Amino acid sequence: MKRKKITVLTGAGISAESGIATFRGSDGLWEGHDIMEVASPQGWQKDRELVLHFYNERRKAARKAEPNQGHLILAELEKDYDVTIITQNVDNLHERAGSSNIIHLHGQLFQSRSTLDESLVYDMESDVINIGDKCEKGSQLRPHIVWFGEDVPLMEKAAEITEQSDIFIVVGTSLQVYPAANLIHFTPSRCKSYLIDPKIPENVDLRNIELIEKGGSEGLELLRKILTKS
Ligand code: OAD
Repeated sequence: MKRKKITVLTGAGISAESGIATFRGSDGLWEGHDIMEVASPQGWQKDRELVLHFYNERRKAARKAEPNQGHLILAELEKDYDVTIITQNVDNLHERAGSSNIIHLHGQLFQSRSTLDESLVYDMESDVINIGDKCEKGSQLRPHIVWFGEDVPLMEKAAEITEQSDIFIVVGTSLQVYPAANLIHFTPSRCKSYLIDPKIPENVDLRNIELIEKGGSEGLELLRKILTKS
């Protein structure tokens, strides 16, 4: 029998139980910074050192974090389903939990990129990028992260995969950032959709999506039971 396709859209909330801070916390800051200061081309132009330091710290925190039960359940679903994870997260916790098909829509913390030629992307050998670290063409390296106002090159691929889903699961995203948030509208009519979040996002059209108002691990445990019965 043909295996069903599950597509999972994850956001910062799935890594919250691993101790990685979400973006839109109650203070509106990301680890004490205005998000535009550290996640926009303007912020980069204004203070490269601050931006590099910020992501160097994020790498340190991500190294210390371990995948949680939510990441592990998503990896285990591969036993019964064809699973693709579309994540907005730049950490590598889905990889470390054992998931095999992962699209990092917003880039990856452990990769660097040339500021001259965006096709030059490198797996980082150390966890820091410093001023003066250069690509093979001699330009400064930057984090391989999609910042506000920049294109999301993997969006088209993510939309194509979503269009082929039998089951679509959204976990831990406020659905406030586009184009990623649009993916929920790309599911085919046969698809069954679920959203897991301890605080269901507001001002978003969630018709035809079954809402599970719980944290990532607990919600996915519940959903695993539903999915492995069907
Ligand atoms: P947000 O910080 O906007 O939203 C996190 C979501 O996780 C919220 O809906 C929370 O209610 C939920 N949440 C909190 N604890 C949770 C838990 N234990 N289990 C499950 N969910 C939980 O993060 P994103 O939607 O991922 O982009 O943000 C999208 C993008 O905005 C990010 O990728 C980032 C940021 O700017 C870049 O850095 C380019």
